[in-house]
Amino acid sequence: MNAPTTYAAARAASLTDPAAFWAAQAGQIAWFEEPPQPVLSQDEGTGFYRWFRGGRLNTSFLCLDYHVQNGRAEQTALIYDSPVTQTVRRYTYQQLLDLTARFAGGLRELGVAYGDRVILYMPNLPEAVVAMLACARLGAVHSVVFGGFAPHELAVRIDDARPRVIICASAGLEFDRVIPYKPLVDDAIGKAQHKPEHVVVLQRSFCLAELNPSHSAASERAPRDVDYQQLLQAAPVEAVPVEATDPLYILYTSGTTGKPKGVVRDNGGHAVALKYSMSAIYGVEPGETFFAGSDIGWAVGHSYIVYGPLLHGCTTVLFEGKPVRTPDAGTFWRLIHDHNVRVTFTAPTAIRAIKKEDPEGLLSRQYDLSCLCYLFLAGERCDPATYEWAGQLLGVPVIDHWWQTESGWPMLATMVGLSDMPPPRAGSAGHPVPGYDVQILDEAGLPVPAGTTGLVAVKLPLPPGCLPTLWQDDARFQSSYLDTFPGYYFTGDGGYQDAEGYFYIMGRVDDVINVAGHRLSTGEIEELLAAHPAVAECAVLGIACALRGQRPVGLVVLKDGQQMEEEQLEKELISLIREQIGAVACFRQAAVVKRLPKTRSGKILRKTLRQLADGEEFVLPSTIDDPAILEEIQLVLEARCLGQAFENRLSS
Ligand code: COA
Ligand code: AMP
Repeated sequence: MNAPTTYAAARAASLTDPAAFWAAQAGQIAWFEEPPQPVLSQDEGTGFYRWFRGGRLNTSFLCLDYHVQNGRAEQTALIYDSPVTQTVRRYTYQQLLDLTARFAGGLRELGVAYGDRVILYMPNLPEAVVAMLACARLGAVHSVVFGGFAPHELAVRIDDARPRVIICASAGLEFDRVIPYKPLVDDAIGKAQHKPEHVVVLQRSFCLAELNPSHSAASERAPRDVDYQQLLQAAPVEAVPVEATDPLYILYTSGTTGKPKGVVRDNGGHAVALKYSMSAIYGVEPGETFFAGSDIGWAVGHSYIVYGPLLHGCTTVLFEGKPVRTPDAGTFWRLIHDHNVRVTFTAPTAIRAIKKEDPEGLLSRQYDLSCLCYLFLAGERCDPATYEWAGQLLGVPVIDHWWQTESGWPMLATMVGLSDMPPPRAGSAGHPVPGYDVQILDEAGLPVPAGTTGLVAVKLPLPPGCLPTLWQDDARFQSSYLDTFPGYYFTGDGGYQDAEGYFYIMGRVDDVINVAGHRLSTGEIEELLAAHPAVAECAVLGIACALRGQRPVGLVVLKDGQQMEEEQLEKELISLIREQIGAVACFRQAAVVKRLPKTRSGKILRKTLRQLADGEEFVLPSTIDDPAILEEIQLVLEARCLGQAFENRLSS
């Protein structure tokens, strides 16, 4: 079957006969052994869908060897641009392959083999990309943990993934602040039950880490701590063929409880879906340059800094810095100009940060941006003001598109690689990407009419690339995503579709909040606040924030007889969250309230609290035990959380 080139035909074909549609796309990648037909199957017992079972491939081979063997050896594969260290380094496909093959050899000498897990705790560095690709080369499963997470969070992930090896940088740079990573890793290993055999450390000259010369109990091969460069001395190794259904990586994301969810990405579906997305969604050709302004610790970084562009034979830009103050709000425009970027992708919060510092966009005028064709945005809904501002500034289509860590690639978009696609529209994330039957349902699971807000679900089967399950937790996968609406994957988002078919994703309907494009669990923050000796109970809300989209605020009720000063308690709670989750939680405010609004059965009315804080109209729940509580809380929120003083403190 030839791939349809119009949006309507591609969408229809993907829904009428998903197996045939994706079998055709699978032909775009080089398999060691093609999957048998039909390409879609269900696991015995669980019934979970699996793509391309029986196919054998290697993702590192597809990202590197394939291109070297097919004329791209001397093409730049990766450009590392780091204003924080004032470095720009370019790697050809041949160089990236050589480094990856040798680093994989080094990992193998440390005992890493097919199926083993390896955790990475590194900033956006080429050595991190090499490490990811080296794991993939061996058939080992990597799990990158974002550097803004504290040791406790890292420890939780160590205990869940049980890695044989951890790879870290000695330090990261946040603006000009040095953050030593190695002590955080040591602290996390101390806290975790599972002890990895080795820690591989990339020494950065501005902050050298101390390496522990003793051996861990589990390995006589080398000391526990090993220098990253030492692994590069190993002989190169070939890519190990793996099953399409074998995991490529685990990426932890916030759920509604304190325990993060280990989203599993398989090798086959992932490679096929990302390859398809590069041309059909983003409209890039092999050889062109793609820049995703994200972090390798997030799904966007995995899919569109590392795997998507490399699978497609593009040049990818790996940026170590922030959209602002590294050194200024023109840094993205410089990157686009310097590296001839055709398509760029970032989060709306990054554009808002740029707009705040350079409202007229004057810095963009210093650069010729004629190479840029599209700006894609995701991570949170792009508010229409940001959408209009970016469009006027850049003079190219701005495309808000919607996805989740779980999907790994977009579910709604304006697909610039297909013809007849309805143009993007402010406030909307566009139309369903082929393979995704996105529907808006009511609480009973029935489709709602156009214009009516409901719960966003995707009819099963999900297309290739989406999570097949959670890491060693089929039951949680079933209960978190599949039980709500039988036959559907439930996204946790709310939204609506208009009469012309455009979808609008308006925000989470569960206890997940989105702070500067980072996903956090209010439930997890609540669990930690509740552990403070002065706190009887608490609720954490994500309230609207002009820069970060949302910010978390804690409402706490003191234990009877507690005399603690509110200011002191707030300080302690802020540092508690910083120590336990990390600075990235951006938890900077807690207020004491006398009571929390509850149903008569004792459930805290979080949705009502959120609506109250955001000044939205709401219907007083009939189950509320005492409506007067809401007025008390409104007064506290107005006095303590929503004022100008707080906004200033936030941006200072
Ligand atoms: N390592 C250590 N600390 C980190 C970190 C990392 N990798 N990333 C963030 N932090 C820290 C920050 O230094 C800050 O610490 P502070 O409270 O001591 O100042 C805190 O976590 C909050 O970080 P953030 O919310 O990112 O604030 P910021 O002022 O540093 O930057 C933005 C604000 C909007 C510029 C930034 O959040 C941004 O670029 N967001 C885009 C996010 C994104 O790309 N998401 C991916 C989806 S596409
Ligand atoms: P993450 O898993 O961190 O990528 O976060 C996924 C969540 O971010 C989604 O469930 C949405 O709530 C939100 N999100 C991501 N992209 C968009 C978008 N374009 N529009 C609206 N919400 C979005």
